[in-house]
Amino acid sequence: MREIVVSKKAAKSLREFFPWVYKSDILTSLEGFGLGDIVRAVDESGAFLAVGYINPNSTITLRVLSYKDEKVDDRHIHSKILRALAKRKRSGLDTNACRLIHSEADFLPGLIVDRYEDYLSVMFLTVGILRFKETIIDSLLNLIEPKGIYIQGEKSALKKEGIEPFEEMVGQIPSKVVIEEHGIKFYVDILNAQKTGFYLDQRKNRKIVSDYIKQKDKVLDCFSNTGGFGLYAKVRKNADVRLVDISKEAMEMAKENFALNEVTGEFVVANVFDYLRELRRSKEKFDCIILDPPSFAKSKSKRSSALKGFKDITVNAMKILEREGHIALFSCSHHIGMEDLKSVVKEAAKDNNKAVEIQELLYQDIDHPYILNNEYSLYLKGLLFKFADL
Ligand SMILES: C[S@@+](CC[C@H](N)C(=O)[O-])C[C@H]1O[C@@H](n2cnc3c(N)ncnc32)[C@H](O)[C@@H]1O
Repeated sequence: MREIVVSKKAAKSLREFFPWVYKSDILTSLEGFGLGDIVRAVDESGAFLAVGYINPNSTITLRVLSYKDEKVDDRHIHSKILRALAKRKRSGLDTNACRLIHSEADFLPGLIVDRYEDYLSVMFLTVGILRFKETIIDSLLNLIEPKGIYIQGEKSALKKEGIEPFEEMVGQIPSKVVIEEHGIKFYVDILNAQKTGFYLDQRKNRKIVSDYIKQKDKVLDCFSNTGGFGLYAKVRKNADVRLVDISKEAMEMAKENFALNEVTGEFVVANVFDYLRELRRSKEKFDCIILDPPSFAKSKSKRSSALKGFKDITVNAMKILEREGHIALFSCSHHIGMEDLKSVVKEAAKDNNKAVEIQELLYQDIDHPYILNNEYSLYLKGLLFKFADL
């Protein structure tokens, strides 16, 4: 196995089990190294640090596959898959839809595997992990025996890696699969939906938020996608639910999801930024407002505009919130953390001359593991809050 020497800074972070080395920290010339080559990372004295795959075209040039000085081959990958599956089995999640492999957080960098009932959605994000594609698919077929697997090379990630995206299928994937979480049913369109099909990471938060909703409350589910939060509120509390999303396709599926659970709702295709302003003008009020926007800050440089966006929706949501109502605000971007969300809420409350009581600090569900040594693995944060009684 070839070696690359990394800087003191990178050596320290690898010793602390961080999963990446950036290009600027690689001291060896990368000339002659191929896309996805497996290498040993060593410090300047030659001491072993990690085994990983490299991509000389990417700023994140090395991704760690093992912190042990071992051969990383098909058997290694198979054993990591076994471990990830065993972890999900132990988790006791009340669902037939689950993230089975979560990239670096399962020590399989660049690989996402979601299970939807008897089908799998597999996403490859790097050239390095694509090297093991056959092994990964064989292992999944043998260990899970799914009826079908949808395989995609994620567009923007692979473009950054310097290769073309792709799509493949093993077996058959129906146009809609029915999944169930906490007794609530959802259709998932694995082939055409956003991400791998469904926002599984919000599962436990959908339940927690609905615990705070009272019978017949008025609920506004903003950035609803196919209706996750709103449907929990309707099924569990018979709330009066309105969903808002900019995607027509997501809203069509939301309607079907409500029908599948034999309940009704209101479905609005709109830009949430504008729609909240309209509601503010109309003086309509809600008991619970969910704000679960897409990642406004895909990179550090987008942080300040993302924070402005968060503040805008939070200020306007506060204006249409009943005195005893709740807001659930989420960020799924690593660049906007829990402390940022707290600042946004505090500032928005100041603009409304209110103090805020935090009721829940919310994070991604357990099938999206958070490895403390890898800050990037904690990506979903949320606050559930109300106005404080002053
Ligand atoms: C993180 S997802 C929401 C997931 C959803 N809460 C769930 O539990 O399934 C973000 C959603 O925001 C929608 N979206 C993006 N920009 C929007 C905008 N300006 N106005 C309304 N919806 C938007 C996307 O279509 C997507 O469905």
